[in-house]
Amino acid sequence: MPQESAAPYGLTPTADLAGRTLFPHRHLLAISQLKPWEIRFLLDEAEHWVAVNRSSAQKHDGRLAGLTQINAFFENSTRTLLSFEIAGKRLGADVVNMHAATSSVKKGETLIDTAVTLNAMRADVIVIRHGSSGAVQLIADKVDCPVLNAGDGWHEHPTQALLDALTIRRRKGGFEGLIVTICGDVLHSRVARSNMLCLAALGAQVRVAAPATLTPAAVDCMGAVATTDFDAALDGADVVMMLRLQNERMDGAFIPSPREYHMLYGLTPERLAKAKPDALVMHPGPMNRGVEITSGVADDPDRSAITEQVEMGVAVRMACLDVLTRSARNIEGWA
Ligand code: NCD
Repeated sequence: MPQESAAPYGLTPTADLAGRTLFPHRHLLAISQLKPWEIRFLLDEAEHWVAVNRSSAQKHDGRLAGLTQINAFFENSTRTLLSFEIAGKRLGADVVNMHAATSSVKKGETLIDTAVTLNAMRADVIVIRHGSSGAVQLIADKVDCPVLNAGDGWHEHPTQALLDALTIRRRKGGFEGLIVTICGDVLHSRVARSNMLCLAALGAQVRVAAPATLTPAAVDCMGAVATTDFDAALDGADVVMMLRLQNERMDGAFIPSPREYHMLYGLTPERLAKAKPDALVMHPGPMNRGVEITSGVADDPDRSAITEQVEMGVAVRMACLDVLTRSARNIEGWA
């Protein structure tokens, strides 16, 4: 296959002499740093892992054998931590989890000292979740291996957006002209930020519905249109993505009461009827049933893609771990 002449950071993919697409990033820190083709490339890579995970009882691949993956989680997590762990293990990596609650972070160690310590252990890839926006970038700047952002503060959660995009692409066939309504605590949500950027980059029309107090100022810069009217935002929607109220990030009251919030912004079967008849319901989890979503919607097998999102999470994380460690595995020409 001929080598394309575009620069690595150009709009089109470049290929090495063997015809492999070059992913021009050392780390995966934010969707805002990715070009549309780079997002599509990671989704295509993930498709391979969906097929492998579904088809075979023997899911172990082994291509990361001998590499050490450290999952450093400074914030609670169920889905993201577990799926990064399963993804690493299916690829054959030695996976080690560091929980901040039981680490020296609680003894006052600075983030930079923690980064230097992780680096001295010669990890080959580090996955980090942190409560402060920008913390993952700070660690990435201090270590010698690829870093994956598993969620930093209110900022970004890139693998969540990739797994959501993969779920949507598989169910709806593409993004062009698709109307995606994201509803909930958008202000505090790294999931919403990454999703707005990702879905807009892929060609979807993104609507955001939230109380004014929970709507960030620069929604339009992230490719979305904001409204406080959830019913209007549901009109004609192909996908409805619900978000949890992130109470742990709220300083004071942002809503009058959970009951009132549910009346205006809770997704019920009646409200879902305002969207397209085949509209897909999504939620990154954890769900607060009876607040932003009712069980009648969340558990509807015809409409809800919530468990499929979890399945796609493993495949997307396998793809990201594989792609980012290609240079450590001496696959030539990788960033
Ligand atoms: C989200 C997160 O942690 O940002 N959850 C997840 O990763 N699946 C959303 C949330 O906590 O509400």
